[in-house]
This record gives sequence, C-alpha cells and structure tokens, in this order.
Amino acid sequence: MYSTGTLHIQDLTAEERAIYETLKPERLPEHVAIIMDGNGRWAGQRSLKRFLGHQQGAKSVQLVTETASRIGLPWLTLYAFSLENSLRRPKSEVSFLMRLLKSYLESNVQRMMDNNVRMKYIGRTHELPDEVQDKMRWAEEATARNTGTTLTLALNYGGRSEMVDAFRGLAAEMKHKHINPDSITEEDIHRHLYTAHMPDPDLLIRTSGEMRLSNYLLWQVAYTEIFVTDRFWPDFRGIHLLEAIADFQRRERRYGGLGESSGSVDEEAEHVKIAAN
Ligand code: FPP
Repeated sequence: MYSTGTLHIQDLTAEERAIYETLKPERLPEHVAIIMDGNGRWAGQRSLKRFLGHQQGAKSVQLVTETASRIGLPWLTLYAFSLENSLRRPKSEVSFLMRLLKSYLESNVQRMMDNNVRMKYIGRTHELPDEVQDKMRWAEEATARNTGTTLTLALNYGGRSEMVDAFRGLAAEMKHKHINPDSITEEDIHRHLYTAHMPDPDLLIRTSGEMRLSNYLLWQVAYTEIFVTDRFWPDFRGIHLLEAIADFQRRERRYGGLGESSGSVDEEAEHVKIAAN
C-alpha cells in the first residue's frame, strides 16, 4: 500500500512521466475538481448506447484517480451525479447510473486500497436508493484509514442546494446560540458547506467543451482556475490531468490583487509624471 506523502512517480506511464517532469512540484494544486461531461456524446459518435458511454466514463474515474494518487494530489472531487441529472433524465438512465455506481464501488475498493485512496461523498446522498447508500458507506469505511488522495464523489449534488443546506445549518446554530446576524462571516458559511473539511479547488477541469459551471461547487470556485477541454470524459486519462496541471502552472493567480508581473502604483505614477514632462 502507498504510504502518507510518498509519491509513486515510478508507476506513471512513460508519457505521464514526461509531463510530470516538466511540472514544478512546489506548485502542484492541492485540490482538483472535475465536471465529467460528454459520456453520451462519446457513445453517440460511435453509434453506441448512452449507457456504454457512462460505463467507459467509470473507467476514466478510476484511471484518473490512480494518476492523482501517484503524483500525491491530496484532493480530487468529481461531479458524478447532479440533482438535475436525477430530475431531468429518463428513469432508466438514472437507475443505470445508480447500478453503475454500486458496481463501481464493489469492484474498485481493492484498487482504492492499493492506491491509498480515501473515498468520500458530498451532496444530498440520503435521497439516493438505500442499497446505493449502503455500498457507499461500505466503501467509505473500508478506505477511511487511507492517507493518500481523497476522492470525493459529488452525488445528488447541486451547488445552490448545498448553500441552502449550509444556510439552514447556520440559521439553526444561530438560533440555538442566540447569534446576531450582523456577526456572520464567510468562515461561518464555509463551516456549514459539505466541503468544510477541504480546501477550495485550485483547478476546475471540465470535459467536452462546454463553458459552464452547471451548479458545481459555486461557493468554492470563487478563485479557482478553470480548464476546459473538448475531450469527452470517457477519453480523459491521467495524462490529460497532468496536461491540465501543466496549464494551471503557467497561470498567474491573483486573487483580486495585482500579481507578480504588474508594476506598483508608485511606478505607474512615475510614468505619468514622465509623460507629463
Ligand atoms: C455526463 O455525461 C456525465 C454524467 C451524467 C456524470 C458522470 C458519470 C460517470 C462518469 C459515470 C460513472 C461514475 C462513477 C463514479 C461510477 P452526459 O451523459 O451528460 O454526456 P452528454 O452531455 O454527452 O450527453
């Protein structure tokens, strides 16, 4: 089993390793979130049924997670099933996705153990079918002591409903502790989000080319770098995760500030003076 903080670069493929070696280890993201999109289109392009796209997508989940674990990525959060998916897709597709999730957990927990991956979930998971919840609990408990990548599956998840749940939790706490609303801080809201135990994502990847957030981690992505690829999720592999990280490392994160390449206000004022002379 992989041990805490140990990289397993030797287990990367030669192509992955070539990209990994161009990365700056001190600037690796701590948390990568992914909107896995394009399973249906991947299948359609091959004249296959949609469910085969989802099945292939489940393979990508495992392979991408293993690469994440080999490079020591602490947090990987995947949008596996949205609240909207459950409301707006045919019942047959929703029940296929539920069966796929169950069988994915059954057959991959051993690989999670071998790769030191810890499983967690966010979303209104209590609304999922009982047998799926049982399997989820089983996988979470089996992997709870692993210390490598935490793979969080967002299931029956919506960003706005997460905020509703957070505000309900906070309102109940305020009532209980007689807290004045004027004293509420961002930190108070953060404490009641499903993701209270993890850092915000540094990088958000979306596959299949759409330029939307689709109600994913709305609070948490305030300063997240976004990487969109045209590749469909079933074709997305560890090497593409590394390419996205390489792109991320070429960016300058400013968090509303000026960034390293900007001059200071004093320097700008100096230019204005010179121009005026
Ligand atoms: C989008 O494809 C994908 C989803 C509905 C969610 C992702 C689901 C998987 C990767 C399946 C298995 C996951 C696990 C964790 C076992 P889409 O159907 O919206 O594609 P389309 O936009 O091309 O129709």
